[in-house]
Amino acid sequence: MEKTNVAIVGLGTVGTGVARLLLDHGDRTARHAGRTLWLKKAVVRDASKEREIDLPEGVLTESLSEVAEDPEITVVAQLIGGLEPARTIMLQLLESGKDIVTANKALLAEHGPELFTRARELGRSIAFEAAVAGGIPIIANISQCLSANQICSLEGILNGTSNFIVTKMDEKGSSFADVVAEAQRLGYAEADPTMDIDGTDAAQKLAILAHLAFGATVDWAEIPRVGIDGLDPDDLRYAKMLDYRIKLLAVANLANDGLELSVSPTLIRVGTPLAEVRDAFNAIRVVGDAVGPVFYHGLGAGQMPTASAVAADMIDTAVGRTKLTFHTLEYFSIDQPPRVKLRDAQTLMGRYYFRLQVANEPGSLAAIAAVLAKHGISIASVIQHESGEGGKHRTPVPLVIMTHEASEGSAQNATNEIESLQDVTGPVVRLRVKD
Ligand code: NAP
Ligand code: HSE
Repeated sequence: MEKTNVAIVGLGTVGTGVARLLLDHGDRTARHAGRTLWLKKAVVRDASKEREIDLPEGVLTESLSEVAEDPEITVVAQLIGGLEPARTIMLQLLESGKDIVTANKALLAEHGPELFTRARELGRSIAFEAAVAGGIPIIANISQCLSANQICSLEGILNGTSNFIVTKMDEKGSSFADVVAEAQRLGYAEADPTMDIDGTDAAQKLAILAHLAFGATVDWAEIPRVGIDGLDPDDLRYAKMLDYRIKLLAVANLANDGLELSVSPTLIRVGTPLAEVRDAFNAIRVVGDAVGPVFYHGLGAGQMPTASAVAADMIDTAVGRTKLTFHTLEYFSIDQPPRVKLRDAQTLMGRYYFRLQVANEPGSLAAIAAVLAKHGISIASVIQHESGEGGKHRTPVPLVIMTHEASEGSAQNATNEIESLQDVTGPVVRLRVKD
């Protein structure tokens, strides 16, 4: 049987999973690729470190040149996180004639145009299925299976770590810090978990999807984003009372005047598919003009789900399928003009959840209602319970307001004005609502 020599650079959570698939299930990959994918080298920073996996003699190395300078190795899974040295290593491997597979969305979101353009100039390819939503084959679906459609919208839970944290806080009452540590132990979180919890990782993935689905050339940092780092257990509790769950939702919506992009903790109505996505699972609802709505659900983080996507890309690259797609679709071309512009975030319409601490005084509720009315925001429901002190006068109590549809601009202005009211203490929590 024909043999393709491959290498892995970075043998951490994902790299180890890929090595397992290649070494323990070589017969399976050979059957599906019509050739053996032979793991010739695995490059790490520190070869003396204890590993979860025993590699055959001579495979583990600290020397990248053992891969770059070996003409027999044609496909390399580049599985180092972060921007540098990942970018330099990827360029060096491309220059050495290797086709690349990567899971590094931060690198693609930041340096995609440079890397893809260089790969194209060199006649090489970059496959990146694992960069978005782990084991869910969303890249192939958007760029190939749905290619006869104009994608109209895309809504998803794209960060497994955040979803894991929110699920455990919601269902078990676990503390934020404890669940972050658990997500790190389970290999879901980025090396710097801030990227997961502050919405950066989801925004980087959304920027990649927006490019594929809408031809948008977006700087991920310009996507309005809020993470789950400020999420209060009280909001999870109130959401439940109102029959919603809070999820970190990434949204891309195409309208006549441009594309809406955002990442934010959002109340999602219980019973809708996105509200039922738990733990490290991801999900994406895509609407295409021909196909209608399609829903994808699967593990978005973790060793084997991510390795599944990387190894499939290695097979596709070895058999020549990646090159075909890569060169016809012109992903992330420096010269390509953006096909859509971003919508002004202030004009976006949606429902809102407000939670604030308000003094138990005559007229305080009326003052808040007046501010909302002034900004054209209609109240859909209100929750105010008596304080623990038997409804004592003047004691601040939490007030939760659900609104009807309003623009982001009016909701923002109303929030600022409410925060300046004398009877309101502390910041107002404002979250988006999706029915
Ligand atoms: P990880 O566990 O931190 O592993 C990173 C690996 O890179 C380590 O083996 C490290 O070597 C190696 N490395 C770092 N710098 C190196 C250098 N200069 N030369 C050679 N090797 C170097 O990371 P991971 O979780 O596997 O993630 C890898 C990539 O996949 C990231 O871009 C991440 O965003 C992405 N991703 C991860 C998941 C997930 O669930 N974990 C899911 C989807 C995508 P040492 O072992 O010697 O330190
Ligand atoms: N840290 C990422 C997550 C890994 O939790 O979703 C998958 O990209």
